[in-house]
Amino acid sequence: MIANTKKMLVAVAAVAVLVSNAFQPVDAVGCPMLARRDVRSSALPPNHPTSDYTFHTRDEPLADALTKKPLDWAAVEADIEKALTDSKSFWPADFGNYGPFLIRLAWHCAGSYRTSDGRGGCDGGRIRFNPELEWEDNANLDKARQLLEPIKKKYGSSLSWSDLITLSGDVAITSMGGPSIGFCGGRKDDVDGTDSLVLGPSAEQIAIAPCPVNGNCSSPLGPTTIGLIYVNPEGPMGVPDPSGSVPDIRSSFGRMGMNDRETVALIGGGHSFGKTHGACPAGAGQCGSGPDKGKGPNTFTSGFEGPWTSRPTEWTNEYFVNLLAYNWTKFTGPGGKNQWKPADTDVLPPSKSAIRMLTADVALLYDPSYRALVKEYARDLPSLERDFGAAWYKLVSRDMGPVSRCRGPRVPPPQPFQNPLPAPPTKLADFRAVRKDVEQYLTTKSSLSEQIPGDGPNGRNYGALFVELAWRCASTFRATDFFGGCNGARIRLNPEKNWPENTGMDKVLHVLSKVKSKYPAGLSWADLIVLAGETALEKAGSNRLSFVGGRVDAKDGSNPEPRTYYLNASVAARDSAKVMGLTATQYVALSARLRSPSQQARLGLGDKTYTSDASRLSSEYFQILLKNKWIPTGVESKSGAKQYKASGKGGDLFVTDADLALIWDPEFRKIAQSFAKDQRKFKAAFADAWSTLMKADLF
Ligand SMILES: *[C@@H]1O[C@H](CO)[C@@H](O)[C@H](O)[C@H]1NC(C)=O
Ligand SMILES: *[C@@H]1O[C@H](CO)[C@@H](O)[C@H](O)[C@H]1NC(C)=O
Ligand SMILES: *[C@@H]1O[C@H](CO)[C@@H](O)[C@H](O)[C@H]1NC(C)=O
Repeated sequence: MIANTKKMLVAVAAVAVLVSNAFQPVDAVGCPMLARRDVRSSALPPNHPTSDYTFHTRDEPLADALTKKPLDWAAVEADIEKALTDSKSFWPADFGNYGPFLIRLAWHCAGSYRTSDGRGGCDGGRIRFNPELEWEDNANLDKARQLLEPIKKKYGSSLSWSDLITLSGDVAITSMGGPSIGFCGGRKDDVDGTDSLVLGPSAEQIAIAPCPVNGNCSSPLGPTTIGLIYVNPEGPMGVPDPSGSVPDIRSSFGRMGMNDRETVALIGGGHSFGKTHGACPAGAGQCGSGPDKGKGPNTFTSGFEGPWTSRPTEWTNEYFVNLLAYNWTKFTGPGGKNQWKPADTDVLPPSKSAIRMLTADVALLYDPSYRALVKEYARDLPSLERDFGAAWYKLVSRDMGPVSRCRGPRVPPPQPFQNPLPAPPTKLADFRAVRKDVEQYLTTKSSLSEQIPGDGPNGRNYGALFVELAWRCASTFRATDFFGGCNGARIRLNPEKNWPENTGMDKVLHVLSKVKSKYPAGLSWADLIVLAGETALEKAGSNRLSFVGGRVDAKDGSNPEPRTYYLNASVAARDSAKVMGLTATQYVALSARLRSPSQQARLGLGDKTYTSDASRLSSEYFQILLKNKWIPTGVESKSGAKQYKASGKGGDLFVTDADLALIWDPEFRKIAQSFAKDQRKFKAAFADAWSTLMKADLF
């Protein structure tokens, strides 16, 4: 029936308990999700963010922050536990237990996280707002949130929705006997869904992360289908092909930072609980009759129907045992979708013959690595417990960043995904003395022997290089998931030191190593890099910058990869500003930082200058950008920046498309114009922006 004429873009393999109800016709011409919006509604639901490109603050309203009381976490957990078995008539609990439903809520709130730019995740609690609220995969989750409403009211602003939602998942798992390694609290609620627009569907998502064939989306997007959390559980593009589902599962879980072990533990651990809902083909609200119409046994959510185990409110490894025990046969479920059931249902007891699998479950048998893990978990419950506990914690906590940001009494020790740092030293170096040592490199009269050819009048003006090093070190920071930044000084380590844009930074580090070795204790590389940059900027005419020390050096780990997927430099500039957590003004100001000609040359752009004096911080940069006509030279840097040359009188001035993005973008251009006219305004903005970025990763 419908299954053959429409592609159903639904639900996640991982928590298809969970899946959704909306059928989505694929629009042969364009992006299906746009068609959908037209069909669905002309009037947007309340709180729908309409502006695609606003810079947005993540923080809760100030009033909320001021009224915060210390939170009694244990009391919250007890209240959640009580709510689990208190079935409400507006949405009766399956099997008398809301546990699986709340696990789905927590999972879908957190599961949107993607590694490409750190976006998604439950921090912010944006599952309460559009666009996430409207996603097919989040169907009926408004009822799960309604169940938690009394608890949210009771604790008010001392408990964020995002912490409450995640904690509910954790309490639900343990109350049914499952593992928990702890809880990382401290999420803050956003005031609307703006920060999820980029997850789609929206114009912003199309600009940053287009998906030409919905159902086959690739990185930087996390899921294969916009509106779903991972993959289509019915199979790729709705085709019930288990082996075809394998690459989709691996790719989409991979883009969300999960390896095979974590993937299989999460899918099977999640599907130990609850059931899918697709009681009849008529759709949401239409099954059954009388007072129970559309709910309880008549619920339609994903259109699939049935549990994965015979004990769906108990933590077991039965999911894996079942996968291996039966011969799975494809059939059309009561909701009209392709599902899988044991071949020999006639001879099975009712509890077993009712068991159902989705294509994306059966897929785990069609890949050698997945299959080996299915076997392991089927025979070894403690192994599943270990892996699921750790993977769940990672799933719901990785958008929180380093462990130092976690709050509450049950924060577990740092996990590998939190990229832990060593403890800070008890006594810090005398930074004034360090500053003096750095200053010796910033004078042209210096008699220091280290040389980096080509910089400054006599080859020894290192200011712009120190600034470049600090910028490269700190600009990996992502306000989206609080990873990256200069703390840890991972720019010294593989893989970061080998990124194309970091070419030559080893030479700058070498110059600074003399200073470093003078302070065997109390001076980290990370502090020295930041301090050297700031010393150079102040020497170059910057306003006083506020330095905060106490960074440490990592021994391993890596920062988030550079984002190289942008369509053009304008999109890259806007999005990078947002990912770094900078305002438009801050981003534009920082673009006028000192640029070293020798560094330009090492990046493959030739020994060219941006301004008349590479050792002076000034708004001349903006004047030059605005007053010249720019012509592409056809030269590209090692990191892909395209070079432009000023035409006519501009003479030998060169910039890249990353600079020109500041005048191509209307909002950035206005800011650049105001800086070009007003040096003082520029310098104030620069000092603010620089200090903000250098401290962004100190929590
Ligand atoms: C960059 O791409 C965006 C999105 O497609 C487009 O709106 C913009 O005009 C492009 N800008 C440049 C400078 O090419
Ligand atoms: C999905 O994408 C892959 C590579 O990105 C491509 O090879 C394949 O043909 C696409 N499939 C469909 C149905 O568009
Ligand atoms: C599994 O089911 C299929 C289809 O019903 C059948 O052809 C096959 O023989 C069965 N295999 C086993 C091992 O029972």
